Amino acid sequence: METTLVLLKPSCVQRGLIGEIINRFERRGLQITGMKMMQLDDEILKKHYSHLVDKPFFPSLAASMKTSPIVAMALTGVEAVQVVRGMTGFTNGRRADPGTIRGDYSVSNQQNIVHASDSPESAKTELERFFQPEEIYTYNHALQGYLYGVGEAN
Ligand code: TYD
Repeated sequence: METTLVLLKPSCVQRGLIGEIINRFERRGLQITGMKMMQLDDEILKKHYSHLVDKPFFPSLAASMKTSPIVAMALTGVEAVQVVRGMTGFTNGRRADPGTIRGDYSVSNQQNIVHASDSPESAKTELERFFQPEEIYTYNHALQGYLYGVGEAN
């Protein structure tokens, strides 16, 4: 089992898509193991987007991420990082495949609805950044035997 971080960005919150996007993850079979609303500030955004701080679009990216609270989610499943990235789609919503979240709900490179961790290593770092350990829950998934085949989820 793997846990990954998803942020529902202000573009998701403000457009009234929180429920719709959460529904997609639940319908896919991912288990929600942490979820909260947060107001981001420059301190956390500089860490979260440390690979982009020198890019010309960083100031507008940081500003866009502060325009409203976001929803932070921990999603758990087998190979959850890869499963969720696949659902998220290409960064630029205009080029994201239909059927992905960005390809279905976004026409923007920046206002692209969701963030999702891009590797197991960044998922670990990002989960620690956005959640206290006690805010992530381990609990039995009642439908586990119908989500995965025998031996698949060990
Ligand atoms: P990045 O980590 O490259 O992509 P992803 O979110 O798909 O992992 O970029 C982080 C965010 O930065 C991206 O979701 C939106 C923003 N961004 C821009 O605003 N302009 C750009 O040209 C790029 C590449 C990203």
